[in-house]
Amino acid sequence: MSVAITGGAGFIGANLVERFMEETEVSEIRIFDDFSTGIRREYVDPRVKVIEGDLRNQDEVLSAFAGVHRVVHLGALPSVPRSIKDPRSSLDVNVIGTLNVLEAARVHGLEHVVSASSSSVYGANPTLPKSEGLVPQPVSPYAVSKLATESLTNSYLHSYGLPTLAFRFFNVFGPLQRADHAYAAVVPLFIEALKQGKPLTVYGDGEQSRDFTSVHVVVDALAKASLRKVTYPSPVNLAFGTRTTLNEAIEILRKIHPAPIGVDYTEPRPGDVRHSQASSSLLQSLIHDLRAPALPDALREVYDWYFQSV
Ligand SMILES: NC(=O)c1ccc[n+]([C@@H]2O[C@H](COP(=O)([O-])OP(=O)(O)OC[C@H]3O[C@@H](n4cnc5c(N)ncnc54)[C@H](O)[C@@H]3O)[C@@H](O)[C@H]2O)c1
Repeated sequence: MSVAITGGAGFIGANLVERFMEETEVSEIRIFDDFSTGIRREYVDPRVKVIEGDLRNQDEVLSAFAGVHRVVHLGALPSVPRSIKDPRSSLDVNVIGTLNVLEAARVHGLEHVVSASSSSVYGANPTLPKSEGLVPQPVSPYAVSKLATESLTNSYLHSYGLPTLAFRFFNVFGPLQRADHAYAAVVPLFIEALKQGKPLTVYGDGEQSRDFTSVHVVVDALAKASLRKVTYPSPVNLAFGTRTTLNEAIEILRKIHPAPIGVDYTEPRPGDVRHSQASSSLLQSLIHDLRAPALPDALREVYDWYFQSV
């Protein structure tokens, strides 16, 4: 079984490459990435192949998928603030890129496509937990691009019978996540600040909550969905219904980090949602054997990873 991973050089993609390497039935892992934010890595495993290309280029995506059986589509320009600064780029890559992936999958008759949407689609809808039936109310161009990503993905199941699954990721964190670019996520930014002995920056009062999800269980779900060809006609949350405020996450870090932790509270960021917590019952009914680690354990692991890496 040959699987292509778009965005395979990125944070979740690189973890997924490692997860697929554990599977003997996987004969090829084809990374498709433009390396705009992804990192070039050397793989000893000969099953891993790298194709450099741009999701916006229909021909490049089409030729990259020749001979592939399944795709996990993670390539995108993530980040709410990035999309507010440059909405056109986010929409181009995330929407046209997804269209190109689905078209290539349709043309090549692929067996299965998983794509990555985001909890940001719930946006201004205040209801908690976020169950998939809630009306999406995106409040940023990024969220709109992800609503389009998941809708296009489902439309290919309905219109062409292409077996697809669109996952809504929540706040994924773990090893390999970059802290060193302008739109880095909160967990790597916090731990990088601790490494440098600087105070943590919190946008707002820190009482905003997130359903932090370990990348290990995310890639386990992605791999199982792909290997088992799990499909569903509408988007599926990929998180486990925990709700942690940033202040609570900082308290966990205080128990891990040996020195005092300072916090600078600044203005809230436009486009950020206040609370996020998934309903996970649909996910668990589709993939029953997922085990999410407890947040303190997962934060400890990622803390150790950042402190051990250069
Ligand atoms: N990390 C999270 O918490 C989170 C939450 C919700 C949704 N998601 C979604 O999950 C997916 C993966 O996220 P991530 O955190 O690994 O992000 P990432 O930025 O680490 O990975 C994205 C990858 O896509 C590649 N890419 C960007 N533009 C491209 C283009 N035009 N052509 C080809 N490749 C391109 C980048 O080089 C990078 O390797 C994204 O679709 C993102 O929207 C992530």
